[in-house]
Amino acid sequence: ALRSYEYIQVSEPRPGVAQITLNRPKALNALCTPLIRELNTALREAQASPTVAALVLTGSERAFAAGADIKEMAPLTFSEAYTTSFIESWSDLTSFLKKPLIAAVSGHALGGGCELALMADFIYCTANANFGQPEIKLGTIPGAGGSQRLTRAVGKAKAMELILTGKSFSGEEAERWGVAARVFNTYEELMEGTLKTAEQIASYSKVAVQGAKEVVNKSQDLPLRDGVEYERRVFHSLFGSQDQKIGMKAFAEKKKAEWKNE
Ligand code: HXC
Repeated sequence: ALRSYEYIQVSEPRPGVAQITLNRPKALNALCTPLIRELNTALREAQASPTVAALVLTGSERAFAAGADIKEMAPLTFSEAYTTSFIESWSDLTSFLKKPLIAAVSGHALGGGCELALMADFIYCTANANFGQPEIKLGTIPGAGGSQRLTRAVGKAKAMELILTGKSFSGEEAERWGVAARVFNTYEELMEGTLKTAEQIASYSKVAVQGAKEVVNKSQDLPLRDGVEYERRVFHSLFGSQDQKIGMKAFAEKKKAEWKNE
């Protein structure tokens, strides 16, 4: 049975697909520490679940997440933030989550909300989604990877402008600039399109999907030559999987592949 939480909801709306919905409507899904703790628990459970092959992270139509919880952060001292490694656990998912995660963004995705979306493997959004890193207006800076991931996504010039001015950008711009993979006109279309894509990914060999995610993510960390070599090693290793044999045999026989996930 799916566990129940205070600040998030977990469902399995399609075969192989887990959906995590941020659910703190009174604060536009501001990401307080207990919410992040619940999110990490749910993500770890989805990672461990044999019935889950792809994940969707979303918020409400009005807000994906309006940022870290400003009221919680306001009184923090340097030594508290430093010694508790405040915010570090937000990025845990980028290490332990081997299954693909799609962020479906509608409404506000600001500050830590934008950063959380950027930690997903890719973003789908609505045209009028509202992305941004407004931390500068609060006397601080992005703290959950925004200066790094947004810069890799849009390039230095745009990232610097966005982070220094705090001005937001639309879902349409996000798609045009390569922050989002696809843009939809309505919230309903966004959710339908996201679940459809997640279901498609979940229909493939789990072994191959994990390998694909791993090598694309390596491109963000490694120099090109090392990244290409890393890819080739993983590609070679997949000849050791049964699913590679199953997939290629099914193609030759014009049949649908029945994956063993082995
Ligand atoms: C705590 C928040 C919040 C936040 C909204 N709320 N964002 N509470 N932290 N980040 C609360 C409001 O206080 C309000 O509570 C309720 O949610 C509804 O918000 P409103 O402002 O009334 O809604 P609206 O007028 O529609 O404006 C929406 C908004 C605005 C433009 C998104 O709420 C806003 O600017 N929020 C802050 C955005 C931001 O600066 N995010 C970055 C945070 S810093 P009440 O009780 O009054 O009803 C950050 C640092 C990241 O994320 C670094 C490490 C992760």
